[in-house]
Order: sequence, then structure tokens, then C-alpha cells
Amino acid sequence: MKIHGQYYRTIWTDADGVSIHVIDQTKLPHAFETVPLTSSQTVAEAIVTMVVRGAPLIGATAAYGYAMAMREDSSDANVDAAYQFLFETRPTAVNLRWALDDLKARLAVLSPAERFAAAWQRAGQICDEDVAICEAIGKAGLPLIETAQKPGKTVNILTHCNAGWLACVDWGTALAPIYMAHDAGIAVHVWVDETRPRNQGASLTAYELGAHGVPHTVIPDNTGGHLMQHGMVDLCIVGTDRTTARGDVCNKIGTYLKALAAHANNVPFYVALPHTTIDWTIEDGVREIPIEERSAREVTHMTGRLPDGTLATVDIMAPGSKALNYAFDVTPAHLVTALVTDRGVCAATAEGLKGLFPERG
Ligand code: MRU
Repeated sequence: MKIHGQYYRTIWTDADGVSIHVIDQTKLPHAFETVPLTSSQTVAEAIVTMVVRGAPLIGATAAYGYAMAMREDSSDANVDAAYQFLFETRPTAVNLRWALDDLKARLAVLSPAERFAAAWQRAGQICDEDVAICEAIGKAGLPLIETAQKPGKTVNILTHCNAGWLACVDWGTALAPIYMAHDAGIAVHVWVDETRPRNQGASLTAYELGAHGVPHTVIPDNTGGHLMQHGMVDLCIVGTDRTTARGDVCNKIGTYLKALAAHANNVPFYVALPHTTIDWTIEDGVREIPIEERSAREVTHMTGRLPDGTLATVDIMAPGSKALNYAFDVTPAHLVTALVTDRGVCAATAEGLKGLFPERG
């Protein structure tokens, strides 16, 4: 996608083949800065501190981190140690495990001398594949927006968190069909949940929709139910960090409440996902998906821009009060109208997923 007229992916390599560059998402929307990552340690830190975030981008970045770990030490012991070290950076998004598993299986059969080059090359392929996957999700989801059109009316779409190109390598998952609809001349407008506590909606989704010229309005997280009650939402579409074999979806905290509101108001609730987000090893998302708990400081403090342009972080809490910060929640499959994947659209059921992925049957 484009920023100020220039095409960007969220992650790219240096010509020297030594470092990668990423967009520092902790600085958006106030500053567009890119940072080099040159070691497995700096990659891990970038994932933990959410310089990079979003399930597919976490996986792609971790793949490069694994390659860098092989440059640092390509021994058998480090194939295991680096896997574990990177795996622990963010526990919920399963793309991380998917990418590390993919690389580890390849590294295991190579000699130490071959490992770095093979891992680096595969990390690049993972990035390219993610772009193609997200484009396919966009094409699969576009008809859902086309059919939601009413003569002379704008299609109002609600989304939560950031499942756009900033969360992936390009295009995005939930936002890919929206970009394609907008580019096809369909009048769309996006209700963007601000997505407390880190405000990925207000900071990132609004930023990238604005950069692409897609009409949107940021709303407090509590507003969606009211809008749905009043017929102001035609459909919801969100991303997911982990999808179980029966179609439960784990996504940014607050997604579940939006799904409940959508169900109560007969608003279609779609979840867009790359196949790399499906965890075929589990069924019951509520019981089996580990939910990342992040620092209470993300709840107690907010960062914003002062009138002079400088950034400031302020404490918004009553002194002494405790805060709790679960980063994700699970929406049970029965609240999901359909899953939008890179293989097409299916029911959020075990049968629906197996229909698209028969090799998993
Ligand atoms: O904590 P984050 O910002 O990594 O959470 C991101 C989300 O919850 C996205 O909606 C999710 O990764 C799906 S995105 C393609």
C-alpha cells in the first residue's frame, strides 16, 4: 500500500542481506519512521514492544529473526533455543508458531553451514506468500460487500483493532475486501473501533484507511452496539490471531462484545483470516487458546501528541487503582456469520473449514 504516494510493505530487507527494516508502529500515527533490525535479539524486542504487531506480520518478522539467529549461531542447539526464544515473544497469534515451525522443519535437515541462507530465503518467501494470501482474502471478501449494497446508500462496515496492511505484509486481512470495494467504486464507510488500551484502531486503522482515501470514523469501543441497534452498521469484519479447527476466533480484546452485539441485531459478523492463522490442533478456543496478558501500564497510561507536536505519555488512572490487561478474547464460532479465507468463504464450523481445506480432513 502507499504512504505519501510511495509504495511500502511493512517489512523489507537491506540490499546487503544483513538487516531488515520495519515501520515503527509505536510511532504511528504521529510519525512515520522505519527502523532497522539486525539481530535475533532486536527482532524479539520489536515483537514484544509491538514495534511490529498483527498476527501475519509477527510471523513474517519472527521468520527473519530465526534466520538472523542462524547467522549468529547455526548449531543444532541454537535451532532449538532460537525457536523457543522467538516463540515466547507473543503467545496468542499462531502465525508466529506457524512460521517458526515451517523454518525449523527446513533447518533440521540442513547442515549448520547451509542454515542461515536457507532461512533468510524462506523468510522472504513467507513475506511474498502473505501478500498473495491477503490479496486472495480481499477477492474472497469483496462479494460480501457488493451484496450488502443498497441503491444510493453507502455500505457501513465496522471493524475492530487493526487487521489492515500494517498488521500483515501488504493489503491486510479484514481491510483487504474494504480496499478492493473502495477501489472498485463502491461507496464504503468504516466505523473504526478505537481499540483500547493500545488504540490500534484510532492510531493504525484510521491512519492506513486515511492514507488510502477510504471514508471512516473512529468511535469509542463502546459505541458499536448503539450503532447496530440503530441500523447504522451493514456488516462487521474483523481479523483473528488464532482460529480453531471448529471456527472459534481469537482476536483483539473487545471483539467478542462486538460479535454479541452483531448477533443480537442481525448484523453479519465476518472474520477474515489467512490459513496460517488456523490452529488445527485445537477445537475449543475459550479453553485452549493462551490469552496474552500485557502490562497494566498500557491501561493506566495513554500517549498522544501535544499542540507543539511533541509526544507525551500521561497517567489516566485514580492513584492506587489496579488495572488488568488481557490482550485478546475468543468469539465462539456460533457468533461468526462466515470465515473469509484465502481459499474462499466458509461457515465457521469444522465442516466449513474442512470443505475449504480438505487436506486437513
Ligand atoms: O496486539 P496486536 O495489535 O498484535 O493485535 C492485532 C489484532 O488483534 C488483529 O486484529 C489480528 O492480528 C488480526 S490481523 C491481521
